[in-house]
Amino acid sequence: MSNRTFTMIKPDATQNGHTGGILAMINEAGFRIVAMKTTQLSAEKAGEFYAVHKERPFYGELVAFMSRGPITAAILEKSNAVEDFRKLIGATNPAQADEGTIRKKYATSIGENAVHGSDSDENAAVEGAFFFSKLEQF
Ligand code: CMP
Repeated sequence: MSNRTFTMIKPDATQNGHTGGILAMINEAGFRIVAMKTTQLSAEKAGEFYAVHKERPFYGELVAFMSRGPITAAILEKSNAVEDFRKLIGATNPAQADEGTIRKKYATSIGENAVHGSDSDENAAVEGAFFFSKLEQF
């Protein structure tokens, strides 16, 4: 069990003005923000971030969506961070997300699902390093 996970507030939530609301839920759930930045991914960078999904039928759609507007990337710290954060964001498909989760409140579809959360400690480290150098993590 590691103490860090990685998240992105995706272009749909950013464009709909939900960044503050999502950060408040993250804060209230007891996560500490170790690093954070708002940026926009090029299609190339979005493709690289989601390379693990390259063979999936939705890959093109995912890359187009994730590069269409600004995102906020963050590294979060808490005990049992990966698992607890996945509980806080809820199911990938917001139709299946529990009450009280970020996706239940802010996501509109399985593709445009407001937030990303790492699915393992290993991926949390890789994804965090994709956006932040060691000097940018506090
Ligand atoms: P995320 O947790 O960021 O990881 C992979 C993303 O692919 C996922 O959230 C969704 O946004 C997207 N995704 C997963 N399944 C589908 C699908 N069936 N159609 C479109 N996008 C999907």
